[in-house]
Amino acid sequence: MGPKLNTIEILILLLVASNIANAQFFDVTKNGANAQVDISQALLKTWTQACASKTRSEVYIPKGTYKLSQTNLKGPCNAPIVFNLQGMLLAPPVNSNFKGSDSWISFSNINYLTITGGGTFNGQGKTAWGHTCKNTEYCGSLPINVRLDFITNSVVQYVTSLDSKQFHVNVLGCRNVTFQHFKVSAPGNSINTDGIHIGRSTDIKVLNSVIQTGDDCISIGDGSKQIVVNQLTCGPGHGISIGSLGKYQNEQPVQGVPSKVRLSDISFTNIRGTTSSAIAGKLLCSKAYPCQNVKLANINLKYTGSQGSITSTCKNVKPSISGTQIPKPCLTTAA
Ligand SMILES: *[C@@H]1O[C@H](CO)[C@@H](O)[C@H](O)[C@H]1NC(C)=O
Repeated sequence: MGPKLNTIEILILLLVASNIANAQFFDVTKNGANAQVDISQALLKTWTQACASKTRSEVYIPKGTYKLSQTNLKGPCNAPIVFNLQGMLLAPPVNSNFKGSDSWISFSNINYLTITGGGTFNGQGKTAWGHTCKNTEYCGSLPINVRLDFITNSVVQYVTSLDSKQFHVNVLGCRNVTFQHFKVSAPGNSINTDGIHIGRSTDIKVLNSVIQTGDDCISIGDGSKQIVVNQLTCGPGHGISIGSLGKYQNEQPVQGVPSKVRLSDISFTNIRGTTSSAIAGKLLCSKAYPCQNVKLANINLKYTGSQGSITSTCKNVKPSISGTQIPKPCLTTAA
């Protein structure tokens, strides 16, 4: 008897099959990618072909482990594009050449991008943590696993960011991007590895996701609005942060995107997990630009640290609060 598939599996297969049937299909291994070589040239070539397609296209990276050096995948593309990562991409170790870039893989200026496939972006952060950043707070020069710059109407789903050297994902100047069934995985002692950092972006959703990392699970920097985080399992990690005055001042200036936009319309609902930081919620807004319409509902973060109790701290923000609240929000006011 052959293997039996349940209804869900058949549905998924049909969905995958119909996606593939509808899309122009570009396989990196047809352009020279294999497990023995750095695939950045093959990937760029494949991306360029797919991006030029006049109809929906798909960049396909099959199962397997592939070395990939610093790579920028740029739009605009002629049609919606799918980055179907089934395998694992392996970043170079920290001491190799990142060409002065603070990202490993960046996607930029793309409308209708889907990143999916069940695969993994492995940043090999173990080669970096506690190395380069010892005694410095901001490891701006270490590469971020995945940068999304000026991406619109897009989805990131069913992929994992593993062991990034710095932030796992940085969202900059984006609009209408949904992360769902997205996973971040790094140990609690990985330094400065925020899960998803969102800056100067509008209409970003993080849904049904798991973020295990050494710093904030989600951090929201200046100029962001309409941010929804729902059903997030966080931990290890340092909880959630909004605004973190000054922490992200290294965010590059962005042409056409005002940096001093008020942070507004931000909701964190159904957040559970653990935190090793005694301050599990940091809502730090500036006096000149207080945060508006911030909502916290059903937050339950169990403290695994050793400093007694945990708290959340607020500044220039009055969040609306409902449901479970552990820690109690805005228990302290930041100086
Ligand atoms: C947001 O992006 C999704 C995914 O591409 C798309 O289906 C949806 O129509 C977009 N929403 C708006 C308001 O453009």
